[in-house]
Amino acid sequence: MLQQPTQDDENSFISETQFCHNNALRIDLGAFQLDRNDFDYSEGPSSLVNETNCVHLPTNFNNNYTFINKNNLNDDDSNNNNNNINNNILRVGENLPEGFSIDELKPRHSLMNMFKEAKEKGTYLKVQAPMVRYSKLAFRLLCREYGCDVVYTPMIMSDCFHKSQKARDSDFTTHYYDSPLVVQFAANNPTDFSLACQLAAPYCDGIDLNCGCPQPYVMKESLGAALVTKPQKIFDMVHEANNKFISGMSRPIGVKIRLHPEDDTLEFRKTIELARQIEMAGASWVTVHGRTHKQRTKNTKVNPDGPKTIKQILNVPVMHNGDIFTLGDSDRFAKETGCDGVMSARGLLSNPALFSGYDYVPFECIQRYLQIAIQIGGVPFHILQHHIMFMLYSHHQFLSADVIEFSECTSVASILDFFEERGLQVY
Ligand SMILES: Cc1cc2nc3c(=O)[nH]c(=O)nc-3n(C[C@H](O)[C@H](O)[C@H](O)COP(=O)(O)O)c2cc1C
Repeated sequence: MLQQPTQDDENSFISETQFCHNNALRIDLGAFQLDRNDFDYSEGPSSLVNETNCVHLPTNFNNNYTFINKNNLNDDDSNNNNNNINNNILRVGENLPEGFSIDELKPRHSLMNMFKEAKEKGTYLKVQAPMVRYSKLAFRLLCREYGCDVVYTPMIMSDCFHKSQKARDSDFTTHYYDSPLVVQFAANNPTDFSLACQLAAPYCDGIDLNCGCPQPYVMKESLGAALVTKPQKIFDMVHEANNKFISGMSRPIGVKIRLHPEDDTLEFRKTIELARQIEMAGASWVTVHGRTHKQRTKNTKVNPDGPKTIKQILNVPVMHNGDIFTLGDSDRFAKETGCDGVMSARGLLSNPALFSGYDYVPFECIQRYLQIAIQIGGVPFHILQHHIMFMLYSHHQFLSADVIEFSECTSVASILDFFEERGLQVY
């Protein structure tokens, strides 16, 4: 039986670069059996239509993700513009088009100002969580259009990222409109982390260190949630990466943690110690997922007292993560924890419009995802299909039988037919 995304998806989450570590990989995603051959993450060349500049309105289906010319070329010049740069996708290490600096190709946002401004307005930042396989460029653009203030890449293995151009190309693509953006790395030593940070910095607004991934293969390598019990390691990584930034392009560094496994549900002594170390190392914000690495979303509710306690003791902004499925949940957790931001993963997979106040995914959002994915180009078909399936589950009009039928689509054309047969025009 097909399922909505669950914590088990998180438990089976995998970075594309994991192939560096394990070639014989096979994972379960709910009912989807995927083997490593499915994980061709190369997003390929874009086939952008060069028409108008993007307006961030949820239901504007004429939006196209076009390049903004340095001289603000008028529309008549769009063909010329297209000749200058035949795609708008940015990749780390690619030669920039002549006459352009990265700052012109990608606007920069100050995350720290965003936290500050939100606080002054009595509100909080709404953030799309890092999700292996899913928080790729097309989904990030969709989430931004529907009210996410900040979006995260999936966890990227820092060692592969700085060592291999191939890994960089397949793990990370970005775009003019893909901002404010945080790039998340898995790392277990200061050298890998700081080298990866330096390479990614020009293309993003902040970097995050993953200290929350509970996957056994990740923890076995002292990555992800294994770091929760090794505060000194986190300190060294954040400290060194910040120091390296002093001589180069600097970006704020955040750390995403889970609760310490030895803490009980009332006192968070060890998590507090950890959070203090992270702050002392120079982290600019901390995200707290209110579960230990052993607790599963399926059978354990998130504990908001964790992020609430950390918020009370730190000076830097703190974000709550866990169990946000509606804007109501988001407001409630922000109020209950006093946090500066909230982060959603599974909620946004099912309903990328949740931060815009939709309790269930509007059909326009499904349309818009398809449109963006096709415009941007290169989204692997099975990923595109999974995204739409996650959304269909949360759409009142579609029954399980429809979703099962949808899962049998084998091409974008058959997806369009699926909707057309139901009287729905998607593209
Ligand atoms: C499919 C999937 C992939 C995930 N990938 C990552 C990841 O790359 N990095 C990370 O820090 N957490 C990852 N997570 C964990 C989420 O970011 C989040 O901490 C967790 O799902 C709890 O939030 P939620 O209740 O909003 O889902 C993933 C979760 C899911 C469901």
